[in-house]
Amino acid sequence: MIALGCDHGGFGLMQEVIKFLEENNYEYKNFGTYSEDSCDYPDYAKKVAEAIQKGECEKGILICGTGIGISITANKFKGIRAALCHDCFSAKATREHNDANIVAMGARVVGPGLATEIVRLFLTTPFSNDERHIRRINKIED
Ligand code: RB5
Repeated sequence: MIALGCDHGGFGLMQEVIKFLEENNYEYKNFGTYSEDSCDYPDYAKKVAEAIQKGECEKGILICGTGIGISITANKFKGIRAALCHDCFSAKATREHNDANIVAMGARVVGPGLATEIVRLFLTTPFSNDERHIRRINKIED
């Protein structure tokens, strides 16, 4: 199950991401926001981070205007590794090296074609399970 969260700035791009998830039969839970009315991105980062902490969802996708505020917030939650990605290389590398459990993007930074490719790579790339990456992730948790 994939947790989704966005603010008003990310709402439009999130609709494109949802279309991609549905076309590819991914199960998701949408924690909002549900319109372009102004709202506060930390509220949605919190909902998604807590869904992952509880084990209700395995991964999350967060979108705001830049992706910055929403990823900063998500990374305040223990066990959350939110990666701000605006290119395909980073989306793949953060799964392999950081075992990122959230991908964050900025709707004012990337278009829908690139965003859905970033999401595809984030969802399909496995963690490397490499001992040195595990050691580094454990240091983050400590
Ligand atoms: C909202 O205007 C904007 O500040 C927000 O979407 C995000 O870019 C914050 O980091």
